[in-house]
Amino acid sequence: MPRSPSLLGIALLAAVLSPSAAVAAGADPAKGQSIYMANCMACHGTKADGNGPAAAALKPKPTDFTSATWWAGKDDKRVTASIKTGKPGTAMMPFAQLSDEDLAHLVAFLKSKKTPTTSP
Ligand code: HEC
Repeated sequence: MPRSPSLLGIALLAAVLSPSAAVAAGADPAKGQSIYMANCMACHGTKADGNGPAAAALKPKPTDFTSATWWAGKDDKRVTASIKTGKPGTAMMPFAQLSDEDLAHLVAFLKSKKTPTTSP
């Protein structure tokens, strides 16, 4: 039996579709990082420590996501909501255009930047 061209087609289709399949599987910090670099880095900084190029001019300063103190008591839901709606009275603008999926990737990235506390 000759090799069926449709098998190749299916393989190509699978290769094209696999990145979105990975997205559906869960929040991906690497994807979050590219969204972060495009939308958040100018203020929150390349290291997510709140020291982006625009940070010096801002009061209050952008949040330092490496701070375990900042993360204490915060859950994903609340952090996601503040990205979506922004923080009134600060330079933190609403990012209502981001999909729930993108927000999940972003939060996963931000959490990956948290420095573990040394004391229990
Ligand atoms: C124009 C500058 C700017 C940009 C761009 C920006 N932020 Fe912020 N962000 C801030 C400032 C300023 C604060 C307020 C810090 C504070 O209140 O102490 C903040 C606060 C936050 C907070 C904490 C909100 C809270 O409730 O305390 C989160 C989470 C956050 N930013 C995530 C993001 C993400 C994710 C992006 C990109 C999608 C982003 N920010 C883009 C300036 C910015």
